[in-house]
Amino acid sequence: MLTFEHVHYYYQKGTPIIDNLSFTIHEGEYVAMVGANGCGKSTIAKLMDGLLLPKEGQVTFNHMDTSKPKELARIHEQIGFVFQNPEDQFITTTVMDEVLFGLENIRVPREDMQSRAEHALRAVHMLGEAEAMPHQLSGGQKQRVAIAAILAMRPQLMIFDEATSMLDPHGRQQVLDIMHELHRQGMTIVHVTHHMDEVLAAERVMLIHQGRLEYDGDPLTFFESVPASDYHLQEPFAVRVRQKLQLITPLTADWKEMIRSEWVTHCNK
Ligand SMILES: Nc1ncnc2c1ncn2[C@@H]1O[C@H](COP(=O)(O)OP(=O)(O)OP(=O)(O)O)[C@@H](O)[C@H]1O
Ligand SMILES: [Mg+2]
Repeated sequence: MLTFEHVHYYYQKGTPIIDNLSFTIHEGEYVAMVGANGCGKSTIAKLMDGLLLPKEGQVTFNHMDTSKPKELARIHEQIGFVFQNPEDQFITTTVMDEVLFGLENIRVPREDMQSRAEHALRAVHMLGEAEAMPHQLSGGQKQRVAIAAILAMRPQLMIFDEATSMLDPHGRQQVLDIMHELHRQGMTIVHVTHHMDEVLAAERVMLIHQGRLEYDGDPLTFFESVPASDYHLQEPFAVRVRQKLQLITPLTADWKEMIRSEWVTHCNK
């Protein structure tokens, strides 16, 4: 679906940021992208949907190439990008207008706009606030409106670049619940995050280190085999508990199952 082939990127010549990066993200995957500050995650996210173009190599989405302007316009319609700071994403004065604005931009027929916007706002539980002013909403509500504006455009892939990091636990959980529900319905999701608890919920983890892919695989193997602190990351709570317990007595129970159930309990709180 989304493929990086030998991608190189730099902001200043001579200071490579992304170094010969190749990978594929498949339809329906839920990928967590992690790594220390400055390792290149946001740069990769922007390369994914053509906000940045590779200096060398190729980024393709459904065989369309981000470096070809005509194809890039279609890629923009099919990939949604939710940024860290919800404040940065609003242009209009009401929640409803915010969603309609995106639809106008991609020239959705006028008669379809209202129902698409309402459907998207309902999906993020914000239809009741349709006439509210975006700047009067809480951070979590703002992010949900930003997600609705993207959903209305019916993207195939959504990138969340630390979209939960400025939210309180309640707001964060609401956004995570929406992400999981979208994934359950078939959306492909790339979730850039520093929250290791969120990584456990992904199917695949990509660890970026100095612009290269250091680990690419499932989260349980990741926490078993990668010393998270080497990459300025902290293991999730459940993994730390398991490590502490193992110091006392070797665990015979299936600890992966324990982490899974720990996570389910955590999610249902
Ligand atoms: N517009 C820019 N101009 C010059 N250098 C930049 C620019 N944006 C990012 N960089 C540099 O590129 C490197 C990678 O930045 P990037 O934002 O991709 O990292 P990140 O992994 O998203 O970090 P964080 O976890 O802090 O969000 C950093 O060294 C950063 O200073
Ligand atoms: Mg970043």
